[in-house]
Amino acid sequence: MSQIHVTTKINGDETEFLCEPEDTLLDVLRDRLGLTGTKEGCGTGDCGACSVAVDGRLVCSCLMLGREVATIEGMAKGDQLHPLQRKFIEMAALQCGICTPGILVAAQSLLERNPDPSEEEVRYWLAGNLCRCTGYDKIIRAVMDAAKDMREAS
Ligand code: FES
Ligand code: FES
Repeated sequence: MSQIHVTTKINGDETEFLCEPEDTLLDVLRDRLGLTGTKEGCGTGDCGACSVAVDGRLVCSCLMLGREVATIEGMAKGDQLHPLQRKFIEMAALQCGICTPGILVAAQSLLERNPDPSEEEVRYWLAGNLCRCTGYDKIIRAVMDAAKDMREAS
């Protein structure tokens, strides 16, 4: 089958590439564009490891192709880590790190909508992101702390 020419914006940069009609956004990011920060856990929309923002909406990239895309690679600005990234390191909210990019992208999407979420809201929002090793308490605390830092800084 002939390849498709796609023009899109990824982490703010105009990007174009050729892909197969059956490629998912996850395939394109990792295999064609070398953006391997987005992970594949299940490939079926169940684990959240492949979370990215498309046109500002949080999605599982293993299920779709999209227009304006934000991935984990766009989260830090130069060598300036996002407060969520800093907190995850500071509070050791990761072990193997496979779930971490997806959780960070999902948490950023939550804090853009709701800068002051309750613990329950954070837990509910991240319910689609599975972590197989850290357990969730450190992750939830890191998100709550990052939200507080971001509120105080704004
Ligand atoms: Fe997409 Fe698991 S790899 S939800
Ligand atoms: Fe390993 Fe979450 S840190 S899956």
